[in-house]
Amino acid sequence: MIPRSALLTPALSELPLPLIVPTAWSLLQAAVDDPDDPLRLPVLATVDDEHRPQARVVVLRAADPHRRVLEIYTDVRSPKVAQLRDRPRATLCFYSAPRRLQLRLSGWVALHHADARAQRAWEATGLYAQRSYLTTAAPGSLLESAGDGLPLDYDPQVSSGEHLAVVRVHVEQLDWLLLAREGHLRAQARALEDGSWTPQWRVP
Ligand SMILES: Cc1cc2nc3c(=O)[nH]c(=O)nc-3n(C[C@H](O)[C@H](O)[C@H](O)COP(=O)(O)O)c2cc1C
Repeated sequence: MIPRSALLTPALSELPLPLIVPTAWSLLQAAVDDPDDPLRLPVLATVDDEHRPQARVVVLRAADPHRRVLEIYTDVRSPKVAQLRDRPRATLCFYSAPRRLQLRLSGWVALHHADARAQRAWEATGLYAQRSYLTTAAPGSLLESAGDGLPLDYDPQVSSGEHLAVVRVHVEQLDWLLLAREGHLRAQARALEDGSWTPQWRVP
């Protein structure tokens, strides 16, 4: 992993091309465990069945540079899961204002529900976050009046993770955009079968 001091803006603008991809992954790995890091809250983009783009904020739960996978958790009943079943491709767009860095990572999606991975994710989820998966009706369902959708007899101690799904984005392309006083810098890289990347500078 790249040292934290190298992940700050002045150092980022000096990065040589081969370090762009490993640094992006290091930043994302660090963000998973840091609730104050804006890179922990990317926007997940999908396409719906009318070919309309859909986007929403999610929490980045894991970043694995070796497998080139980003992970988020969601409710299996949510519209995004239906979209991903129909079209298993997604982009995660991140922005860190303190670093003036945008990262866009795109790839194919594997969904995990009611399996060992989803169960591990449920066990790693705190009681407060578990509430997101415990609404009576599916996320997005109509309500007669304002409400959180939780059952009236909701008891955090006896909840089940049956609705939690793990979305794993297998990253195929990474786009790096750094806004710097001396001039913006952009690079793009494609993932190759052998595990390497092909980074190239691009016009910002
Ligand atoms: C700060 C923040 C974090 C969120 N994290 C998640 C998340 O990790 N997973 C998730 O499914 N929805 C998360 N949401 C809610 C989504 O943005 C969205 O409203 C919800 O998942 C329904 O999306 P859909 O109708 O496109 O499926 C979060 C919202 C906010 C504002």
